[in-house]
Amino acid sequence: MLSASLEQALNDQLHLEFESSYVYLSMSAWFEWKNMLGFAKWMNIQRDEEQFHASKFYHFILDRGGQVKLKSLAQPKWEWGNPIEVFEAALEHEMLVTRSIHALVDQAMAEKDHPGFTFLQWFVSEQVEEEATITAIIDQLKLVKDSQSGMFLMDKELGARTVAHPMP
Ligand code: FEO
Repeated sequence: MLSASLEQALNDQLHLEFESSYVYLSMSAWFEWKNMLGFAKWMNIQRDEEQFHASKFYHFILDRGGQVKLKSLAQPKWEWGNPIEVFEAALEHEMLVTRSIHALVDQAMAEKDHPGFTFLQWFVSEQVEEEATITAIIDQLKLVKDSQSGMFLMDKELGARTVAHPMP
């Protein structure tokens, strides 16, 4: 059985994952508006990933006898100056999520909640991957700079992304 405080913290994380999904949807819309359809697809798949993360928390809370308490979503930002700004905002957001996951792990450890600790390990690894992937894209965008052909190639490359996790 979850403690009340861990149930609350897991609900907060569930909310953050849904907000992440909304942030990436807004980023996807911005790229589509710019007709950068590969970038838009990449962001839309990222949106799906966040829905998958949220779904994992949703089911874990319920499986542990906790209650899911959904909250309203904040309005995400919807305007950026260029693709690098978008991905830098995405990285900043992922770093926030990482800090939140680490705080949850600390709490599960402090409460000796072994199922919670084990469940969260997947997210610890996932955050390493998410930050590394976005950092690599930022580095590529810096290399491409204002090259239209470079940006065209990146758009093709990012548009080849496929869904990694089917929804449970
Ligand atoms: Fe669910 Fe991108 O962290």
